[in-house]
Amino acid sequence: MVDQVARLEAAARERLDPAAYAYYAAGSDEEISVGEAAAAWRSWRLLPRVLRDVSHVDTSLSLAGTPLATPVLAGPSALHGMADPQGEVATARGVAGAGSLLVLSSRSSRPIEQVAEVAGPWWYQVYCLRDREVTGEQVRRAARAGARALVLTVDAPYVAPKPRVRDPLPLGAHGDEALANIPGVRAQDREQDPSIDARVIGQLAEQSGLPVLVKGVLRADDAVRCVQAGAAGVIVSNHGGRQLDRAVASAHALPAVAEAVGDRVPVLVDGGIRTGTDVLVALALGARAVLLGRPVLWALAVGGSGGVGALLESYRSQLSTAMALAGAVNLAEVTADLVAGAGRSRG
Ligand code: FNR
Repeated sequence: MVDQVARLEAAARERLDPAAYAYYAAGSDEEISVGEAAAAWRSWRLLPRVLRDVSHVDTSLSLAGTPLATPVLAGPSALHGMADPQGEVATARGVAGAGSLLVLSSRSSRPIEQVAEVAGPWWYQVYCLRDREVTGEQVRRAARAGARALVLTVDAPYVAPKPRVRDPLPLGAHGDEALANIPGVRAQDREQDPSIDARVIGQLAEQSGLPVLVKGVLRADDAVRCVQAGAAGVIVSNHGGRQLDRAVASAHALPAVAEAVGDRVPVLVDGGIRTGTDVLVALALGARAVLLGRPVLWALAVGGSGGVGALLESYRSQLSTAMALAGAVNLAEVTADLVAGAGRSRG
């Protein structure tokens, strides 16, 4: 099943401008974390249940009050306009058709409102910028456009160097940066504010009136601090290996975070999730849902909105098969005892 995303990537690579491909594929520094992510999921082993009636398997769930057909979501990634002329508008259509949820990057090629018009349920990803007024206006704008939650990304106080990204990006009509959502703002004010602390979670919730999930958490103590500061969810992530290189794989960080957070708020995870069985492992280790980064970009480049929809449906159907073979008929039955050595059983 891994081959499926690898094949998609190869096909996308042929279609994409080489600079765009390098930007999407890149990790930071020596690319150690990006190289380890998928293998970390594959290192877990399963303990399937037998003699259960698995003739009907249900992958649906309710996430932060939103009913979804699948726990596989489209995570936030910048600049979809290099993969498809419609950019995030095409992505949003594909995601909606698959009964999933889109996390729209604040570095999108298309303005929030255009994406919102065609989207199903969506959340808005935000960085806290040096100019708090710009950030405040962004999140209020997202709320007005119908975002159901904010995803505050906290693993990027500075943008890490990506040696593979050397050439200018083919941004075409979209200008010199992903500015669809922050036009006319001076470059230094668009930078992430490295001085923020956990109080920003409450501030953004107040400004937007939306629940705030925190993305980029790898440590149990940080996850607990986020929950105490009012986070509505925690997303275990090392930013697809694009921030601190050698940051631990999310597949290895997840169990301790899930254990520390317990049932207080949902824990989500991303990074290197390439098959339905990876999704099964993630859910068994305590995630309520998973997010995809690069696979969505490859699918968008190869097949536009239809490609994104087909990708998400393929993950859903692989998950359904893996659940049946593991003896779980719904997501509540995907518990830690399915994973060998995952510690005490949850749920
Ligand atoms: C990202 N990611 C990201 N995250 C975020 O919070 N805001 C963003 O704008 C971006 N932009 C972005 C661009 C590209 C090209 C990539 C590949 C990634 C990180 C993303 O949300 C996610 O954490 C990882 O991509 C997950 O890993 P996989 O699925 O790509 O292995």
